[in-house]
Amino acid sequence: MSDSSTILVTGGAGYIGSHAVKALQKLGYGAIVLDNLSYGHPELMEVLGAELIVGDTRDSSLLDRLFAERPIDAVMHFAAFIAVGESVQNPALYYRNNVAGTLSLLEAMLKAGIKKFVFSSTCAVYGPPQFIPMTEEHPINPLSPYAASKRMAEQILEDFDRAYGLKSVIFRYFNAAGADPEGQLGEDHDPETHLIPLALLTALGKRPDLSVFGSDYDTPDGTAVRDYIHISDLATAHILGLEYLQRGGESAVFNLGNGNGFSVREVIATAEKVVGKPIPVKESPRRPGDAPVLVGSSAKAREILGWTPQYADLETIIQQAWRWHQKRHG
Ligand SMILES: NC(=O)c1ccc[n+]([C@@H]2O[C@H](COP(=O)([O-])OP(=O)(O)OC[C@H]3O[C@@H](n4cnc5c(N)ncnc54)[C@H](O)[C@@H]3O)[C@@H](O)[C@H]2O)c1
Repeated sequence: MSDSSTILVTGGAGYIGSHAVKALQKLGYGAIVLDNLSYGHPELMEVLGAELIVGDTRDSSLLDRLFAERPIDAVMHFAAFIAVGESVQNPALYYRNNVAGTLSLLEAMLKAGIKKFVFSSTCAVYGPPQFIPMTEEHPINPLSPYAASKRMAEQILEDFDRAYGLKSVIFRYFNAAGADPEGQLGEDHDPETHLIPLALLTALGKRPDLSVFGSDYDTPDGTAVRDYIHISDLATAHILGLEYLQRGGESAVFNLGNGNGFSVREVIATAEKVVGKPIPVKESPRRPGDAPVLVGSSAKAREILGWTPQYADLETIIQQAWRWHQKRHG
């Protein structure tokens, strides 16, 4: 696999986008990052030697100039706000950034004749699971403004294909986790809401304890079960999705998960093994809207894109995240 075309990566200074930039670079693609740095890390762009344009997906004149001046072949769109709780408090922020931002980006692409788009969606568009593992045919029922904003963007993409022939690959991620196996990149959200980094930050003494939300679910140990997919496997899937579109593939939706569920307690026990000491835990009530089990089937991505996740093992995922966290915060 190698290519010399240029890909615009929105949100490329963030967690998942930066790993995709590295994967593109490794294969010889040109990657231009557009990030407004609301949450992004410009120093990671320096580490990667990636070109960073500090700007916003809602800035149509910037996008028009960029697409006119640079030979961009396709867009990977990671830029979004991602905090479910905040989206409930401030839905306007989420609809403006995640929906209006996607719309202005797509309109600028159409003006420039760019018709290949890879989009970060989420398993949260499915809402409460009606069957496990969840396939792409699972009913859609987004419960938060965050999830709804992602679903709206998906609907825009369906309509833009029908009307304008813009082809997209939509990836519905389960829980992105882990860090670059070479140690250059990792997860650094602020505020952090994801279990593995929270466990590691607690182990580093950056937080007093780790909240376990709900220990009375109908699961083997009473805590919620999630599907953790390694960040490098996500990045690889994006390359495969891009290549699929470059081969003339039709618009398609794919789940990205590893198909294995791990409970909160299993994650904590594995993190304790990796860090070599106990992690203080605080038992807290269930959070409204949290499903007991979220595990996805990625059979479609395996079959159509030839995607084969390399890092299904939870301990490896946490070890790599730990190496990153020690370097970043130790
Ligand atoms: N992390 C997960 O587990 C997960 C799960 C499902 C879906 N996703 C989706 O994946 C994508 C990336 O998530 P992440 O975890 O890397 O988040 P992140 O916050 O680390 O990265 C998002 C990046 O987008 C930038 N950004 C936000 N709005 C922008 C705008 N209007 N213009 C330009 N840049 C903007 C931020 O500065 C940040 O660098 C998001 O679209 C998110 O919804 C993430």
